[in-house]
Amino acid sequence: MNKKTVITILALVCTLTLHAENKPWMNKNLPIRERVNSLLDQMTVKEMIAELNLVPYYAEQDSAFRAAVAKGRVGAVLKASGTALNRSLQKLALKNNHLSIPLMFHEDVIHGYKTISPIPLAEACSWDTAMVRRSAAVAAKEAAAAGLQLTYAPMLDISVDPRWGRIMETSGEDPFLASAMARARTLGFQGGSLSSPFTVMACIKHFAGYASLTAGRDYLYTDFSQRQLEERYLPPYRAAIAAGAGSVMCSYTSFNGIPATFSRFLNHDVLRDELHFDGLLMTDWCTLSNAITEGASPDGRTSAERGIKCGIEMDMTSHRFIDNLEDLVNSGAVSKDIIREAAFHALEAKFKVGLFDDPYLYFNEKREKEVIGSEEIRQACLDMATESMVLLQNKNDVLPLSTDKKIAVVGPFAEQQEMLMGKWTAKGDASKVITVAAGMREAAAHVSVGASDYRTPADSCTACYDAAQSADVVIVCLGEHTGYIGEATSTARISLPNNQLKLLDKLYQSGKKIVVVLFNGRPLQTDFILAHCDALLEAWYPGTMGGRAVANLLMGKAVPSGKLCQTFPRESGQIPIFYNMYRTFGNIRHLDIADGPQFPFGFGLSYNKYGYSNMSVSTNSAAIGTPITVSVDITNKGSREGREVVQLYVKDIIATVVPKLKELKAFRSVTLSPGETKTVSFTLDDDAFKILNDEMKWTVEKGDFEIQVGCDSEHVLTKKIHLGD
Ligand code: GLC
Repeated sequence: MNKKTVITILALVCTLTLHAENKPWMNKNLPIRERVNSLLDQMTVKEMIAELNLVPYYAEQDSAFRAAVAKGRVGAVLKASGTALNRSLQKLALKNNHLSIPLMFHEDVIHGYKTISPIPLAEACSWDTAMVRRSAAVAAKEAAAAGLQLTYAPMLDISVDPRWGRIMETSGEDPFLASAMARARTLGFQGGSLSSPFTVMACIKHFAGYASLTAGRDYLYTDFSQRQLEERYLPPYRAAIAAGAGSVMCSYTSFNGIPATFSRFLNHDVLRDELHFDGLLMTDWCTLSNAITEGASPDGRTSAERGIKCGIEMDMTSHRFIDNLEDLVNSGAVSKDIIREAAFHALEAKFKVGLFDDPYLYFNEKREKEVIGSEEIRQACLDMATESMVLLQNKNDVLPLSTDKKIAVVGPFAEQQEMLMGKWTAKGDASKVITVAAGMREAAAHVSVGASDYRTPADSCTACYDAAQSADVVIVCLGEHTGYIGEATSTARISLPNNQLKLLDKLYQSGKKIVVVLFNGRPLQTDFILAHCDALLEAWYPGTMGGRAVANLLMGKAVPSGKLCQTFPRESGQIPIFYNMYRTFGNIRHLDIADGPQFPFGFGLSYNKYGYSNMSVSTNSAAIGTPITVSVDITNKGSREGREVVQLYVKDIIATVVPKLKELKAFRSVTLSPGETKTVSFTLDDDAFKILNDEMKWTVEKGDFEIQVGCDSEHVLTKKIHLGD
């Protein structure tokens, strides 16, 4: 090695050493907490406040955005993605920051970034936490490859109101299943290391109780009890926080009349003290300004003061923090310590995702090209879509179809691409979506297609009738326009538009075999559909690979195994209707329609019949705290290998409060060959029998319980046990 090289290396080592000594926070061998505090010790209040400012990027306002970055007024960015753009913004930030503080990039990667998986409500119908975790992991891989480090997901709200457009983002009506999904998605997004360029930080939302809004109308006021908070809304947060979720987003709505964005009870007493969350808490979009609009704050200064004092640490897009906090500190209204605490979590997140060790870690254009849209990711989305679809009717085993059949694929969703992705589709590429028609052409030999438009009157759907004329079986692809689903959308009705029902009726009158495939993001009214078809497959919004998943199922290349995670009402007048209601002393029902739901929670058919037998419990009476083992034999009476989701519910017979009808406490998927029997066993600990008692304490009360095992929440085998003396 020549002299010049040695001198260069020595100079480099000295520079790095000096650099590390002058900036100990750049020393990756120190614990993150130490690095953050050493950085904070060097920061002014102004610089700390900038870290609390989360700013949206709009291409049309690029120069103004860059000016704000150059002035050091931006801490984190949302809505900017792509390695080229984000690298350039990072470079600009670092050039203008003497402390080497990088930007962090956020986005709504809810069910995929470019390659889209099924909507979360659909994924939860798989009851397959490993598959859901994989779906989140590949979404994270694409997002990180596109220059992102944090996603505003998983959404943990629990809804019992299909009128609410955001029900599509939830994991269904049950806290136990939703908690399992919360954990799976958090682990999937965050992976084994947050500083890997293939993972992103999760931001669980919307804390808390957003889904309890009135009449299913988005943003409308919420009024729910602390019992509802504890029993229904907090369990998924407990699960996600235990799984290591790095951040939380507050809700648009209120608790006990106080906006969540101002709620010390929610954001400090519950989130920090009860749930022991120690990560970053941010607002939802403009909530500090929304509070002014709804009359809960006179101005931005008050909003900033109330927000920071209740525990909010990052202000998404309202700019109330950046505009007011410095004055509030200078006037003594807000302490510097509170600002420092907030800035700690904002900076800690950047250290955790590795941006201080390599601020360009996520901006690798080669990796971006290799990862995005890869076959690995498409396959994961296909598998997820296949397991998330639910077979709701199959008269005379019309499905699966044989390849010698002449098949027509018709209707407004027959060749639909954009709407198969649903909503919250980030940079989803509609041109890559496999339509039902394309999927069927891959899977069957004799396929004719007759697509219609969403609003085409039934009498004008000639292409549909022409294609159906020479077919043995007609696959009718119906669904709800995605304009009625997602944020800021609610519907009073949950039925398909009349033109689609009329189209179905006319096709049904032809006497052909009719298979309806439904594309929707909420439980819909299905009575007319069921009466006018032989088979009904609930496909939800299945994402990029949706058409291939539909074809695989209809042609028997895969066997349906999805089970509903949300009760299907008979019609909207029944809402709310869900399986785990509190009991009452009389069954007062709506007299003008049949009783009970159209389809219960946990329902889903297969091409096989599964027999449940020989249920046993390890004891009929035990002391509280004794593990209880429950076993049951499952037999595949069908002719295909298939997966069955075995569900276990517990009914508390007598308690100090009114107990629920029943509650899901365990579930397990089991795959069975034709004729095969397997014994499925569950071991229940105290958690399966706990109730929030009359003193608001979670405890196991002595008494009788009914343990129920079955294929859905209504068809169960039962055993009674007694706990306590
Ligand atoms: C929206 C949503 C939230 C989303 C955020 C950023 O209004 O409520 O779920 O993550 O703003 O887009």
